Amino acid sequence: MSKILVTGGAGYIGSHAVVELAQAGYEPVIVDDFSNSKESVLAGLRAILGRDVPCHHVDCGDAEALRGVFRQEGNIAGVIHFAAFKAVGESVQKPLAYFHNNVGSLLTLLQVMPEFGVENLVFSSSCTVYGNPDALPVTEATPTKPATSPYGRTKQMCEDIVHDVSGASSNKLRTILLRYFNPIGAHASAKIGELPLGTPNNLVPFITQTAAGIREKLTIFGDDYATPDGTNVRDYIHVVDLAKAHVVAVQRLLDRKAPDTVETFNVGTGHGNTVLEVVQAFEQASGQQLNYSIGPRRPGDVPAIYADATKAETVLGFKTETSLLDSLASAWKWQQTLG
Ligand code: UFG
Repeated sequence: MSKILVTGGAGYIGSHAVVELAQAGYEPVIVDDFSNSKESVLAGLRAILGRDVPCHHVDCGDAEALRGVFRQEGNIAGVIHFAAFKAVGESVQKPLAYFHNNVGSLLTLLQVMPEFGVENLVFSSSCTVYGNPDALPVTEATPTKPATSPYGRTKQMCEDIVHDVSGASSNKLRTILLRYFNPIGAHASAKIGELPLGTPNNLVPFITQTAAGIREKLTIFGDDYATPDGTNVRDYIHVVDLAKAHVVAVQRLLDRKAPDTVETFNVGTGHGNTVLEVVQAFEQASGQQLNYSIGPRRPGDVPAIYADATKAETVLGFKTETSLLDSLASAWKWQQTLG
């Protein structure tokens, strides 16, 4: 069984990846500082997997503590680096915290990995690196645009760092960069899911909290975009599908099928949906009527973006399986367990 270090493994995407890795026969080991996750996630993982997943309460930016994890675990075959701050608005208010945490933890990881002979890395990137694209859908070759937030800049910087480090002959590093589109939903068991702290920034947790009566109504940020119904278009991917992309990426690295440098993949469904379509699909999936109104545009939102998912399908053999309706049904089921 290959041991995979999962930084941010107690987070939303990380926890779902831990489940898929374990069920695919890997031995995931979590590293998380719990700055944006809860210890209760570990109980959810135990409930799904029927056993404990080893977890180190460590900040990835702490080189000595991270070395301690590598030393104690031994024989780590690869790392999936999820750990990062991810709130776009907060990153504008606290840019230093974002650069320090997101860039700093990657640098520390890249420093420590070779000390223990670990050469395989999967890195969590984002479709935010494309900015507002000139043409849709975006392929991996679509040029990146200047980021619209410090958060987006950290993802671009991290991609650049990985390229530079992999390109240096003194380093042995094989990396797969996964550019996520919009992850939504929860594990079918409803034992793990998204746990937003405070008021959610993202659409789906805001919708489910509104339906649960926690929020009064959803405000749709603008309906005057040049899209089919005037609201923004995004590519909403079920979080379990996204988690599975990490399993195939890890497999590819361990099988030595990846080149000795960097490979980049979009991870999305290949389909765009408007905000209004998501609201309607949620109503259908949940049987709830959603209270919403149209508000002004949100600064920084791109009008439309969705993935060309061809490369992930042809090279990784990865294809999403869950419909928007089922994804939203899982989000609603999870919300109901939260009360
Ligand atoms: N939206 C609303 N009302 C809300 C929340 C969101 O109308 O209360 C709309 C947004 O305007 C957008 C869509 O729902 O059109 C999705 O918004 P999210 O905040 O859920 O997701 P984003 O597409 O803005 O952001 C996501 C990730 C970021 C990443 C970004 C890249 O959350 O981490 O994609 O485009 F940087």
